[in-house]
Amino acid sequence: MPDFKKEAHDLDEKYGNHSELFVFPTFSSMGLKEEDLPKSKRQESAVNYLCGNSLGLMPKSTMEAVKNELKAWGLRGVESHFRHPMKEKGLTNWVDIDLPVVPYLAKVVGANECEVACMGTLTMNLNSLLFSFYRPTQNRYKILFEKHAFPSDYYAILNQVKLHGYKEDALIQLSPRKGEYSLRTLDILAEIDKEGDSIAVVCFSGIQYYTGQYFDIKGITEAAHRKGCVVGWDLAHAFGNVDLQLHDWNVDFRCLVLIQVHELGPWSNRRNFRKRETYQGQKLASSAGRMVGKQCWKQV
Ligand SMILES: Cc1ncc(COP(=O)(O)O)c(C=O)c1O
Repeated sequence: MPDFKKEAHDLDEKYGNHSELFVFPTFSSMGLKEEDLPKSKRQESAVNYLCGNSLGLMPKSTMEAVKNELKAWGLRGVESHFRHPMKEKGLTNWVDIDLPVVPYLAKVVGANECEVACMGTLTMNLNSLLFSFYRPTQNRYKILFEKHAFPSDYYAILNQVKLHGYKEDALIQLSPRKGEYSLRTLDILAEIDKEGDSIAVVCFSGIQYYTGQYFDIKGITEAAHRKGCVVGWDLAHAFGNVDLQLHDWNVDFRCLVLIQVHELGPWSNRRNFRKRETYQGQKLASSAGRMVGKQCWKQV
């Protein structure tokens, strides 16, 4: 039996601990009464916060960062888009507010800087990516994904097929085998092999939000490409949790959420990735210039 406690301790030693950078709720701030607490805890003790899957802890620096932008709004109003009053202190004109994170983002997902963009919400991004990438034809119009996909992903996908005049039977939703909780890669590949010629888009999650299954992104992408399908991934729960090499894996598009592990607030921007080559020779929907990043847009 592996010694998980020791392993965790060794990792803490190796990578350090940044807990001092975050605000921890206390039992009192969580609204718990003295009589409900474990014996060793007092109301002002920090809680053990284990929720990394939906909204992490607030970084202490967030309050100041938000206040600075509100200050800029007050000081210069709309002018802060182009002349941020705290530019000398390293703050960014709002028009370029997404750009400083791009190099970091590209590194985390294994992509070129011109392949990532920071914008919107995941569902909004998935809609706009599908809008560009789902180009059904008479024989190739289906979308392959999981039966228990995140609910908003399901509706985004369903709405796209409806938008093109298809019904729910254009959706192929794979379920785990009876009595099993996760999908076997073998079964996904077999479905691609069987139905591939009629599938326009394959769109799984990188890590399943409920079961934690880590999908074989590279293998599934390759198999779907061999059949001529476009491949996208919802990487909400994979980002920052597993090593991603999106460029090398030849993924066509993906979108992800940063709140999960990177502890940003619910209004933080979500991230998009589109493989650069995908754009060449194509006319794309309205916001595409920003979505692929300025430099890249010039090159395509
Ligand atoms: C797997 C997954 N897909 C989609 C979403 C929806 O994200 P948004 O609220 O940004 O549209 C989430 C949000 O947590 C998610 O975890």
